[in-house]
Amino acid sequence: MSEIIEVSSDWLALREAEDARARSRELARAAARRLRSGPIVIHDLGSGTGSMMRWLAPLLPGPQTWVLHDWNPSLVDCAANGAVPVDRRGRPVSVHTRSGELAQLDPDDLEGASLVTASAVLDVLTSDELGTVARACVTVGSPVLLTLSVTGKVRLDPPDPRDDAFAAAFNAHQERLVGGRRLMGPAGAALAQRLFLEAGWHVRAVTTLWRLGGHDPLLVEQWFDGWWDAALEERPDLEVEGAQYRATRSTQMRRSALAVTVAHTDLLAWP
Ligand SMILES: C[S@@+](CC[C@H](N)C(=O)[O-])C[C@H]1O[C@@H](n2cnc3c(N)ncnc32)[C@H](O)[C@@H]1O
Repeated sequence: MSEIIEVSSDWLALREAEDARARSRELARAAARRLRSGPIVIHDLGSGTGSMMRWLAPLLPGPQTWVLHDWNPSLVDCAANGAVPVDRRGRPVSVHTRSGELAQLDPDDLEGASLVTASAVLDVLTSDELGTVARACVTVGSPVLLTLSVTGKVRLDPPDPRDDAFAAAFNAHQERLVGGRRLMGPAGAALAQRLFLEAGWHVRAVTTLWRLGGHDPLLVEQWFDGWWDAALEERPDLEVEGAQYRATRSTQMRRSALAVTVAHTDLLAWP
């Protein structure tokens, strides 16, 4: 068993509305057009508490069964015990959960899949794990919708001469070694695209943006804190400069005078 990287359910809840706003509806509609008619089964990989299901279920026909896969059982339990979303015609979906590591994902784990999804997951996988996921998807042959993979590009407004050093340190931290696993960080989306193209699949990619700022002060503050902490963990030598930088940005956040754009890629792949 690998060392689990804990993601807090509070953080997933805080970001859920912005995730929902940012994900590409155009790709969701394109995925819906590729579904066979009749009951559908959606497997969501690295589901956390089910944010992807709550966003996508109402955009798809039904009846729907969702199978939520995550290595953290406490997160999928939240999804299983929470409010059940409805499909495009207002019918409640069925929800099943599976605890397990994506490193061991087998085509049989995607039984009956009409669609495979994942959101904000590729950056925390290794290249081998993503290879395993892509092979399982290709064997099963249903369309795959991979949303909100970070690209490493962020823009803070107003700009500050220290932004680039912190962004570079954060991106290096995203590619860190955890329990012997080298995470892909911002390279995840490009590798996924390549793996599906090499399998002879079609891929559509759309840039999707988180826009953080004064309308959700807690989200921008927590995003900045996490970004800054990770950058300093990677580059402890930035500590002194980092304290001044944080003070500047904190003042701006208190005045609702900081806007942040975080770029992602959404991918739809199909055979
Ligand atoms: C950033 S969260 C995204 C959660 C959810 N998809 C969402 O959009 O809210 C990444 C999720 O992937 C899960 N995860 C990360 N690495 C995993 C792995 N190797 N196997 C299974 N689940 C994993 C984490 O437990 C977490 O729930």
